[in-house]
Amino acid sequence: MTLTVLQPAQVLSPQLEIAGGRRLAGELRVSGAKNSALVLMTASLLTADALRLRNVPPLTDILGMGDILGSLGVGVQRSADSLVLDGSGLNQSSPPYELVNSLRASFFCIGPLLARLGIAQVPLPGGCQIGTRPVVEHVKGLKTLGAQVTIDHGVVSAVVPGRRRRLTGGRIHLDCPSVGATETLMMAAALAEGETVIDNAALEPEVIDLAGLLSAMGARIRGAGTTTITIEGVERLHGADYAVIPDRIEAGTFLLAAAITRSRLRVGPVIPEHLGAVLTKLEDVGCKLTMDGSTLEISADEIRAVDLRTQPFPGFPTDLQAPFMSLLATAQGTSIITENIFENRLQHVAELQRMGAAIRLQGNTAFIEGVPRLSGAPVQGSDLRASAAMVLAGLAADGVTTVQGLEYLDRGYADLEGKLNGVGASIRRLP
Ligand code: UD1
Repeated sequence: MTLTVLQPAQVLSPQLEIAGGRRLAGELRVSGAKNSALVLMTASLLTADALRLRNVPPLTDILGMGDILGSLGVGVQRSADSLVLDGSGLNQSSPPYELVNSLRASFFCIGPLLARLGIAQVPLPGGCQIGTRPVVEHVKGLKTLGAQVTIDHGVVSAVVPGRRRRLTGGRIHLDCPSVGATETLMMAAALAEGETVIDNAALEPEVIDLAGLLSAMGARIRGAGTTTITIEGVERLHGADYAVIPDRIEAGTFLLAAAITRSRLRVGPVIPEHLGAVLTKLEDVGCKLTMDGSTLEISADEIRAVDLRTQPFPGFPTDLQAPFMSLLATAQGTSIITENIFENRLQHVAELQRMGAAIRLQGNTAFIEGVPRLSGAPVQGSDLRASAAMVLAGLAADGVTTVQGLEYLDRGYADLEGKLNGVGASIRRLP
């Protein structure tokens, strides 16, 4: 038997090599929203008709959700940026642990599975790099709709008692405005008997997008985008053809790419209301912003310090906290960032420090003293948005930065290096 000895280059995971310090110019195209598309895909479980989703981003998370739906009997076909999901063959109520474990959003299947089949067994998603990610609110709400739920050996088993196995509408008060719980319960309630009211619902644009799709499928939903959502259950839902909203987090990342390189870029399509708090902070640090149709033009020169706290929508999104910190690491003055949503979402601080950033951590608060230049270094992204923060820092740093952890980056950004290279960045994917 001959053994192959792996050379160092072969054991390294793929990485991005960024030659920093270049000005960017041109236009960046924003893909469809990952977080919206993932949830809209699970809505295919609610109907036996075909559902066509357009503007679906080409991401590994989307492939993962396709695999999960496929394992339940849903037909999944992709062409260009469209997905056709055919729920007529749905024959399983229990997605396998190996698939669910790698994609937290797959837990949201439990709502539509229960609504359509009256039974679902979905493994608990567990924690992830940024925090514990409980699903207490999802489970509490499903119980209010009449499901019997038990959690055993890491699997949530839910069943609707009675001959018809149909959920019954009810009044749900969420203790915290969880995006995933709001979405899970909207889907469950869409096929329930009678009216459901969700109080303290999440206000995120992705919730409104889901309401848009469900309405196009024949659901009766009012109030999405407010704290009270009312759903009048219907007997059945039908197919629909629906376009996913643009990704506000990818758009925000591109705007930050302009800001950190002190460049002028056009970014679109953008729905400015989805980015309200982010645009305000970009203006506060000194960026100039102009809307031109659905394209946002940004130009940046001097960047000054600003304080920010992450909050549920319409507050500043936790998903842009790490990328914004990269920018503030290069600002004039001292900024304070407080992370209020996830308990372990400041791991990028240590990596930014390796690039010369002057950041002090105290609990969930980071004190960032801007430095004139970051310096290129090998760094590791600890989660999706932390990886994006490293790429941004690399764009602005002196010398070469290598970013590892691309398995995270590829989950949420479609061809990030290709898009940034198109506006003048110098990024190579290795090996
Ligand atoms: C979604 C997004 C994620 C984003 C997050 C917050 C998707 C696929 N993911 O995640 O990118 O960072 O919203 O904007 O859409 N919580 C509880 N109990 C629960 C559920 C949640 O205490 O039962 C807490 C969480 O610990 C967290 C906060 O609520 O502190 C927000 O979580 P949630 O809105 O549920 O996030 P996700 O829907 O998982």
